[in-house]
Amino acid sequence: MRFGNNGSNRSHISSVKTVRSVLTDTRTHRTHRTHRIRQTRPSLVAMCGIVGYAGQRPAIDVVVGALRRLEYRGYDSAGVALVGRAGTLSTMKRAGKLAVLDEALARSPLPEAGTGIGHTRWATHGAPTDPNAHPHLDESGTVAVIHNGIIENFAVLRRELEDSGVSMASETDTEVVAHLLARSLSDGADLAQAMRQVVGRLHGAFTLVAVRAGEPGRVVAARRNSPLVVGLGEGENFLASDVSAFMDYTRTALEVGDDTVVDLTADQVVLTDPAGRPVPRREFTVDWDLEAAEKGGHEYFMLKEIAEQPKAVADTLLGRLGPDGRLVLDEMRLSESEIRDIDKVVITACGTAFHAGLVAKYAIEHWTRIPCEVEMASEFRYRDPIIDRQTLVVAISQSGETMDTLMALRHAREQGARVLAICNTNGSTIPRESDAVLYTRAGLEIAVASTKAFLTQLVACYLVALYLGQVRGTQWGDEVAANVAALSDLPAKVDRVLETMQPVRELAKDYAAASSVLFLGRHVGYPTALEGALKLKEIAYMHAEGFPAGELKHGPIALVEAGVPVFVVVPSPRGRGSLHDKVVSNIQEVRARGALTVVIAEEGDDAVVPYADHLVRIPASPTLLQPVLATVPLQVFAAEMAALRGFDVDQPRNLAKSVTVE
Ligand code: F6R
Repeated sequence: MRFGNNGSNRSHISSVKTVRSVLTDTRTHRTHRTHRIRQTRPSLVAMCGIVGYAGQRPAIDVVVGALRRLEYRGYDSAGVALVGRAGTLSTMKRAGKLAVLDEALARSPLPEAGTGIGHTRWATHGAPTDPNAHPHLDESGTVAVIHNGIIENFAVLRRELEDSGVSMASETDTEVVAHLLARSLSDGADLAQAMRQVVGRLHGAFTLVAVRAGEPGRVVAARRNSPLVVGLGEGENFLASDVSAFMDYTRTALEVGDDTVVDLTADQVVLTDPAGRPVPRREFTVDWDLEAAEKGGHEYFMLKEIAEQPKAVADTLLGRLGPDGRLVLDEMRLSESEIRDIDKVVITACGTAFHAGLVAKYAIEHWTRIPCEVEMASEFRYRDPIIDRQTLVVAISQSGETMDTLMALRHAREQGARVLAICNTNGSTIPRESDAVLYTRAGLEIAVASTKAFLTQLVACYLVALYLGQVRGTQWGDEVAANVAALSDLPAKVDRVLETMQPVRELAKDYAAASSVLFLGRHVGYPTALEGALKLKEIAYMHAEGFPAGELKHGPIALVEAGVPVFVVVPSPRGRGSLHDKVVSNIQEVRARGALTVVIAEEGDDAVVPYADHLVRIPASPTLLQPVLATVPLQVFAAEMAALRGFDVDQPRNLAKSVTVE
């Protein structure tokens, strides 16, 4: 059951309260409330960090601490609302990073409170200004709301509110919710009922969290197609976009399904469906290491996460292949006979996870002989893909909340396909909606640029490919065993790559002023090249492109001029001789045109030496597994370039960690 639009166009607005009875952040309201904002373009808000708390601790500490953990989700503005024990509502919000809010709170502390909500924002449209920051209040200042997602029919609702005399204080879609909640409350609904009534009128995807003056100790939330999880403590409870927000306090979490309203106090959490009926509860334990949420002596989370890769890869392999060689999936709702019936695999994912999918295609087709397509999740359902009950769709996602991937998954299931999720986040939506799940065990990844999650996605893809090959009998036991052994060697090999990264860091100094960097590879070296280019774009803000090395002569070679750095990922000379030789020829082609070549090649590959301006050695491994090793220098290079060019390595501009809008 979904929250339905009640179909009524009757305006619910009969009176307009103008008294602000609450203690609010006067700066925002003085500047903006007095001027009715005419601009009606939505300031669509998405991918934000959301937190709610009810308990005995000072709510401000819990909420701001949790926002610090969530800042990687969005960081263009931040705000809090607290309800004191006497029922007073107070708020503070600021454009800019959380530190700006921190300073404002230090200058003008809010009154003590045991209940609070907080928000870090990532806006897709509209300026990240103080008035657009969350929380948003109704006109009487008694209801405070924070929001992640997009309210698609916000313009209609806004017009309706304005026509009845409501004055908007922001450009956001969120603010309409505050006014609508106030309307329902003044009609006699309690906060949870009001939330149900309001979300019944909303179209789009959202998580909403609200508190109300006069109701200390209560936080109400709702979600539709947007992340929300509950943390269960002793005499305190939490709400957040993800578990990292409350890992300091509790490891027991409660999943919140779609179209659910959460009514939370310090002592109880009630989940109801749109009709107000209780819904089944599913608790889970958060096993992420708390240290993952700290930089642990590294200058940036990204550097720490790169360094954690040997462990992340080892953890992802751990216990996965039972003594009989069977892959142990975390959740399996697919029988072996269903797996035998699969006649096509379609992988869908976004960004870095898509690159893992491209590598998986080579492994799946080689090891299983099942045709495999890889589709960007944002394009998947629009091309009307040919899928049916015999198609296995593999959805790869670190966060488990990426909206494009979730929508692709849902489309696949509607067509009858089976869906296997490869995911890093327990309790998230994508695994919950899949038929089978293999969790990557990268731990919490905080830097926006994905590193350890990517390597573990690669490993998970290899495991799935081996498993499919085994169930379908396309690999002999000894072949599986050899591949498993090669996989088991990877953590130590990644470690060795990491030990030799100083020259790569030095290299970044030479190229920090380059206007463009190219990346070439063949076979699985091609997705590796794409990943190297993506990393550089997203954190060093440089023009970077990845190409299949053989495609260069069909156009892109025109980009090569004297001094252009070109990274080339060279496949192993063992086994696939012609592949190796062709890439060596491609290095010569770009070098002949003045490129400065950075060659990533395995130890002992002497054929590349004459053509490499810089040579980066990686340990020998089967070509299919090479991306796990060859990607590491590319990550290190990108992080170093970003730092040298003076950018925030962990929180690049315009990006957010979890992309919860389409
Ligand atoms: C790049 C990056 C993004 C994500 C993409 C998918 O470094 O992190 O490209 O890979 O947004 O995110 P998930 O894996 O959470 O679905």
